[in-house]
Amino acid sequence: MKKFILLTSLCLSFALIIFSCSRKSAAALASKKQAAHVAMYESSVKPLIAAKCSPCHLPAEGGKKKPFDNYDSVKAVSADIVRRIELNPGEKGFMPFKKSKLSAEEIAVFKKWVAEEVK
Ligand code: HEC
Repeated sequence: MKKFILLTSLCLSFALIIFSCSRKSAAALASKKQAAHVAMYESSVKPLIAAKCSPCHLPAEGGKKKPFDNYDSVKAVSADIVRRIELNPGEKGFMPFKKSKLSAEEIAVFKKWVAEEVK
């Protein structure tokens, strides 16, 4: 009986250790993904916004439309950005406003970034 109790508590402790380890690594993975998402914003999305959504969405450039000047402000409307850049010039809501449509490669950059968002 003693052996049985010992064995059971041993098993339970192992299960607890494994459980807490897997939770920790899931959290670590999520923060790694988050860091990668921020890095992709800095390296690919930010330059694209500076080139194509300026000056209207950049207050520093005198833009008066919704600001897209940091990670959070762009992430907050990311789905709407993708929807709008996939429209065609002349369609209601098309962006960049009164300019030509982004190239397929540029649209793909936004879509990839949105797809890798950490919820
Ligand atoms: C020439 C100015 C101009 C440029 C360049 C421009 N926009 Fe806009 N943007 C506007 C105006 C005006 C509005 C408000 C009208 C509307 O909502 O359609 C707007 C609104 C938006 C909104 C909705 C914001 C909200 O209030 O929720 C999004 C999203 C957006 N633009 C994305 C973009 C993206 C992405 C680019 C670059 C690829 C871009 N825009 C480039 C003028 C511009």
